[in-house]
Amino acid sequence: MKSHDMRQRDIALAKAEVLTEALPWINHSRGKTVVVKYGGAAMEDPELMSQVVGDVELLKLMGMRVVLVHGGGKAINKLLGDLDLPVRFKNGLRVTDDATMEAVQEVLIGKVNQQLVWALNEYGHNAVGISGADGKTFKSEQVDPELGRVGTIREVDVSLIETILEDDYIPVIASVGCGPDGFYNINADVAAGKVAEAMHADKLIYLTDVDGLYRDRNDPETLIAQLTKSETQELLESQTLDGGMIPKIQSIYDALDAGVGQVVIINGKLSHSLLLEIFTDEGIGTMFLQD
Ligand SMILES: Nc1ncnc2c1ncn2[C@@H]1O[C@H](COP(=O)(O)OP(=O)(O)OP(=O)(O)O)[C@@H](O)[C@H]1O
Ligand SMILES: [Mg+2]
Repeated sequence: MKSHDMRQRDIALAKAEVLTEALPWINHSRGKTVVVKYGGAAMEDPELMSQVVGDVELLKLMGMRVVLVHGGGKAINKLLGDLDLPVRFKNGLRVTDDATMEAVQEVLIGKVNQQLVWALNEYGHNAVGISGADGKTFKSEQVDPELGRVGTIREVDVSLIETILEDDYIPVIASVGCGPDGFYNINADVAAGKVAEAMHADKLIYLTDVDGLYRDRNDPETLIAQLTKSETQELLESQTLDGGMIPKIQSIYDALDAGVGQVVIINGKLSHSLLLEIFTDEGIGTMFLQD
């Protein structure tokens, strides 16, 4: 056999092995509800974004009920910079005055959401973009007057999300909520956690720009592979977290507490991390589990 043919055969064999390994996971995943939070931090590279969208598409084709919740932190910072507005955070939450709120809506609903919808549609599985204001999906209220228009979600009404899923579309949700006095900026991690709770999701996946939770935030060698719910609570009480990890870990704890079976943080900048997480034996990133 020519060496070229042998190489082709090896590649084909490797593909067959991957499919064989994926088979039990595909069986296990059918009909399961997965909420994927796609962080703005991992959306910088269009090539990688296209891979993430392709992976989401594949999950859908495998029969999973996929709900996408997205952030857009970096794009919001850029617009604020262009508008000469300040970028301020407190405990990982964006301080949101009225002008910042308009920028948040413009970027999340007007840009990032529609870009994801377009990309999913191009892959073939039609998506529907909504914000938490549509169908009053996120009933919101102010968190703290010092944070301005940052909102919590008092309740998620899942009717619109369920309708979209029943009609076989992929719901893509921008994390903006509304209350009687207008719109609220909901941290996308918080929004994803609440959606997972309300949908009784089997799995909640955070795609971000780091491999997972590091014990020392500056040292990727200290990646934590697995944490139980009580260990997650201890971590929150120790107050060693900072930046965007604070709302992430808080929402993860809340989701576990509300009964979501499994939560993972994985690197959205790693090629096909979603597929690796769901369809292979070795997990990646940090996994958070019930005690
Ligand atoms: N202990 C830690 N381990 C890992 N990352 C940490 C830790 N503490 C803080 N971080 C920071 O958290 C960041 C991820 O959160 P960030 O809010 O920036 O992104 P995101 O939530 O994925 O995107 P978006 O906010 O746009 O939805 C990482 O880039 C990292 O700098
Ligand atoms: Mg964040």
